[in-house]
Amino acid sequence: MNDSWWKKSAENIPHIITELPGPNSTALSKKGSRFIKGLSSQVKLFPVCFEKGHGITLTDIDGNTYLDFSSGIYVTSFGHCHPKISGTVAHWANTLMNCHDFITPIKEALVEKMADVLPGNLNAVQFYSDGTSAVEAGLRAARAISGKQEFISCYRDFHGKSMGAVSCARMARADVLSYGPSRNAGFYMVPRPDMYRPLFKKSDGTIDTEAYIDFYEEFIKEGTVNNIAAFVLEPAQGWAGSIFPPDDFFPKLKKLCEKHGILLFADEILTGLGRTGKLLCMGHWNTIPDIVTLGKSLGNGFPVTAMIVREEYADILEDISVSSSYGGNPMACAAALASIQVIEEENILENVRTIGALLMRRMKKMQQAHPIIGDVKGKGLLLGIELVKDKASKEPFDEAGKLVYQKAFSKGLAWIPAGHILRMSPPLIIDEKYASLGMDLIEEAISEVEKEFGY
Ligand SMILES: Cc1ncc(COP(=O)(O)O)c(C=O)c1O
Repeated sequence: MNDSWWKKSAENIPHIITELPGPNSTALSKKGSRFIKGLSSQVKLFPVCFEKGHGITLTDIDGNTYLDFSSGIYVTSFGHCHPKISGTVAHWANTLMNCHDFITPIKEALVEKMADVLPGNLNAVQFYSDGTSAVEAGLRAARAISGKQEFISCYRDFHGKSMGAVSCARMARADVLSYGPSRNAGFYMVPRPDMYRPLFKKSDGTIDTEAYIDFYEEFIKEGTVNNIAAFVLEPAQGWAGSIFPPDDFFPKLKKLCEKHGILLFADEILTGLGRTGKLLCMGHWNTIPDIVTLGKSLGNGFPVTAMIVREEYADILEDISVSSSYGGNPMACAAALASIQVIEEENILENVRTIGALLMRRMKKMQQAHPIIGDVKGKGLLLGIELVKDKASKEPFDEAGKLVYQKAFSKGLAWIPAGHILRMSPPLIIDEKYASLGMDLIEEAISEVEKEFGY
């Protein structure tokens, strides 16, 4: 682990010198939000304005320094301004910023590297600049490869907000308002296994994966015209709250897909490149998808995403042109190549597994100690704490989630807003000391919220 470059900036964090949000943040938020519309709840619930980031820290315009427990929404996974990654982006910004989709040496080096590290023969690649476009390309590829039209995806997955991507995701009110009252024709949703809230259970109360698969089989027969191009899903649900399926789910789903000639499309935009302790999250279940999307961590903050299919479909991909002004530009390719090299050179996967296990042990202790923690979940550094009003009824405790988010933020933890599931995605370079510190701040906030609600 190469921590020499970020340790100094992390000394003495959190370092909070004003009330939060500070006066400068409040003034700038007011100015900016006159024109910037549709801000996320992350910002609305805690309107601070950041001006720099380094390693595992973020500093706002009032001089307060925070511990980063969100990695810029699962993006800056290898630390803010990692010298190797930012350095190469700066070099290419001064050398060659864009030349459409001409092959460049840096792009060729990246695709060689990707083919080398990705499992199986996932090696036919197209580059984009945001996750949504990569997902959209995956949907186009699935139709072209299979010659079929329909898609099945899962309740509460998130895949982006274009027409196709939103059609395979939970539809929030905001999406319905802008896209109309329904998803695109031929897009269907099914429930996916959630071990804490199983819909299908065995007689002993544990989750019944087989029953989910049986339901899908029935659904294909009765609810579709059996013309399904792909089953599209997140390997583990990020937005929904770090929810992982049982270990037998993906192997069984893959078999079902093979039986019906359905492609398995794993959207690894959020889970990919080490976040869960494996390069691809699907690696936890030794399942190689037919189509994969990567984004977020891929450029460590520089916008670069990829849609990748298995080699046997490469010829078909040849016929679907990329059509992206920015996808795969030299800065993007350099950032992605450097990110993958950092994963290898800095033993990132091992660190994620070690720190993830440590945090999971801590979270299990917290679950015992706190009446409002119903469940703790996750793998690697994609973690969640589910808050409930009562452990027996499991009634979601959204009001508490929002308050814990705000309280921990005001103690100096920059993180992701919650409904009733607190979501944690610290940088993958974090060490034991700072991981524990982040969890201390969260536990303090939970204790305070419990008191406020009379627990
Ligand atoms: C699983 C998944 N797919 C796709 C997207 C969309 O990516 P982007 O916001 O880069 O368009 C996201 C974004 O959070 C995501 O989590």
